[in-house]
Amino acid sequence: MSYWSEKVSIRNLCVPRFMGAPLDGITDSPFRTLIREFSTEELLYTEMRHAATVAHDNGRLKTLCFSNTEQPINFQLAANQLTFIERACEKIIAHGVASIDLNAGCPAKNVVKSGSGSALMADLPRFKTIVTTIRNCIPNHPFTVKIRAGFKTINALEVAQMLQDCGVDAIAIHPRLQTQRSEGRPNYVLAGEIKKILSIPVFISGDIIDWPTAKSVYEQTGVDGFLIGRAIWSRPWKLRELREHSLGNPFTITQSDMLTYALKHLDMMLNYYGPDGLLRFRRHLPFYLRELPRASELRNSLITNRSEQEVKQQLQNILPKLS
Ligand SMILES: Cc1cc2nc3c(=O)[nH]c(=O)nc-3n(C[C@H](O)[C@H](O)[C@H](O)COP(=O)(O)O)c2cc1C
Repeated sequence: MSYWSEKVSIRNLCVPRFMGAPLDGITDSPFRTLIREFSTEELLYTEMRHAATVAHDNGRLKTLCFSNTEQPINFQLAANQLTFIERACEKIIAHGVASIDLNAGCPAKNVVKSGSGSALMADLPRFKTIVTTIRNCIPNHPFTVKIRAGFKTINALEVAQMLQDCGVDAIAIHPRLQTQRSEGRPNYVLAGEIKKILSIPVFISGDIIDWPTAKSVYEQTGVDGFLIGRAIWSRPWKLRELREHSLGNPFTITQSDMLTYALKHLDMMLNYYGPDGLLRFRRHLPFYLRELPRASELRNSLITNRSEQEVKQQLQNILPKLS
């Protein structure tokens, strides 16, 4: 069996090496459901949700509103204090998720200001207490942590060792500093160093867009798995494409398929969010169109369309021209 056909084990969970990264506002329930049309086994991270939000959600915020089809899901929590963690973990586990992830990588100002996300990388005693608390709440469930290279300075090696010592089952690293956000080259050398010192699986996140980049990053780092972020945005077939290409199998998607899935995605968003679905879908639409002829003209006219019927009609009008 080759590295690429083997799965990776996160405690008792066995999943393919390519996984869907958390993308707030993008990898929501409808999008995860659409990904399942192509990839049934891959681990899909949810968008980050704060422990307090999950603990207090009585259904209105839909933080725990997903279907079995979406499993295996890695539910991503943010936390800055211990108060809500136990209740949040109880609720998440009761919904049958495959695993829980702690976000220690988000660079957003409001998140960092509250002391969660990547701010944890700059406060190791608090980070350790939060990790230990989650571990104790879910002693038998897979538990992963997503980190950065560091906050303002690199300390991911020390953090990774601490996480393994606390009993975390796998880590994912986006090897950039908080100050870099998504800019500059990811520090793959650092990821390789972390892989060398840990015995738990190490996943990489950052700039993996296709099979050649995944292969090259594997050769540089030796990591166990790959979180695919921006490359899955409006490409629900991306994880399948990566898996097939890594196994030496062909996989292509036609422009008319792209549009058909865009229409399907819009319907799923409308079903899930009601009329708000169209507004949320507008974040996906330009990406679905990017490879079509006259994409920018098309995008401008679709963005100004007000109603779901207008958007659907215009997309349907393009379809026959592509087939
Ligand atoms: C729109 C957007 C939303 C994101 N939301 C999250 C999030 O909720 N949790 C998280 O850990 N990372 C989040 N990230 C970071 C990604 O998971 C990933 O680590 C980063 O984009 C680098 O990987 P990529 O080059 O494959 O996109 C987000 C990134 C983007 C672009």
